[in-house]
Amino acid sequence: MRILGIESSCDETGVAVYDDECGLVAHALHTQIAMHAEYGGVVPELASRDHIKRVVPLVRQVTAQAGMQLKDYAAIAYTAGPGLIGALLVGAMTARSLAYALNIPAIPVHHMEGHLLAPLLDDPKPEFPFVALLVSGGHTMLIKVNCPGDYELLGQSVDDAVGEAFDKTAKLLGLPYPGGPYLEKLAANGDSTSYHFPRPMLDRPTLDFSFAGLKTAVLNAVHHATAQGQCDDKVRADIACCFTDAVCETLVKKCARALQQCGLHNLVAAGGVSANSAIRNALTDLMQQRGGKVFFARKEFCTDNGAMIAQAGMLRFKAGTYAPLKVDVFPRWPLSSLEAL
Ligand code: KG4
Ligand code: ZN
Repeated sequence: MRILGIESSCDETGVAVYDDECGLVAHALHTQIAMHAEYGGVVPELASRDHIKRVVPLVRQVTAQAGMQLKDYAAIAYTAGPGLIGALLVGAMTARSLAYALNIPAIPVHHMEGHLLAPLLDDPKPEFPFVALLVSGGHTMLIKVNCPGDYELLGQSVDDAVGEAFDKTAKLLGLPYPGGPYLEKLAANGDSTSYHFPRPMLDRPTLDFSFAGLKTAVLNAVHHATAQGQCDDKVRADIACCFTDAVCETLVKKCARALQQCGLHNLVAAGGVSANSAIRNALTDLMQQRGGKVFFARKEFCTDNGAMIAQAGMLRFKAGTYAPLKVDVFPRWPLSSLEAL
């Protein structure tokens, strides 16, 4: 049995085919990075328009790649949120129109559940229960995952998400959008002893995070170096390296605390920032020390993609989660229907 998965929550159109016996069969992705780069961030309206152009050709492409026809699908999964509303609507309407025409179920998928389960796309797969560290552009969360769909929030960022901190720091260092991968490359040439940036909220027992102070510390370091006429490539690499160190130590300590608190030995790290090699290495070291295991998605499935949506969709399809026909936005909304205040 095979299902189609469609991801369109932000700046990537991802489409994939997932088989309940052999796993991922085909996947394709169009990234809008080049289009948004000149604006230094995602422009929602441009994102929606581009999803419209890309989604149907990508559906045709993966269907052919899988040696299938549309009528062969058992269901169609799509990202129903969180994300940019216009971008989400493109994937939702495509999936639901196709499902309606084919008379098969449409399965709404939570984007973060897609990320969280992405490490299950490959072997070895983590066994439930585990602690998940979700680090993306919009979220930083520690979650106790009892089984698919049973998620207990242990802690989250009270301000910026880690990905946001990477992107803002990269911008300060003059790097292109999206900053995370560029900052990783720059940090590789840096000296980790040159700066000591704050490790936010490590002194408190909470499993919440805060990254706004770290970003301010980097801003001050950049201003200071610039004022001294010293903000050259070496100093920028040092700042990138020490910023990454501060993030790594914070994530490692909070993960250790979460594992301890839950009495668990398996850790899953997912979301775009989990593609970062320094973070992967730091978490791998932690789990070696603790005699446990850490699981990551392969790097291309850390950032947004259709494969994770197709996989989570299959789990939900098998559990009987279907979308009702109601679409939860209001394209026609008479002003007179509002209630008087
Ligand atoms: O999961 P994702 O693709 O989208 C969201 O759901 O937000 O995550 C995107 C985030 C961006 O902030 C990006 O800069 C960051 O993940 N990212 C990285 C790396 N690759 C992507 N951050 C650090 N190092 C990387 N190698
Ligand atoms: Zn994402």
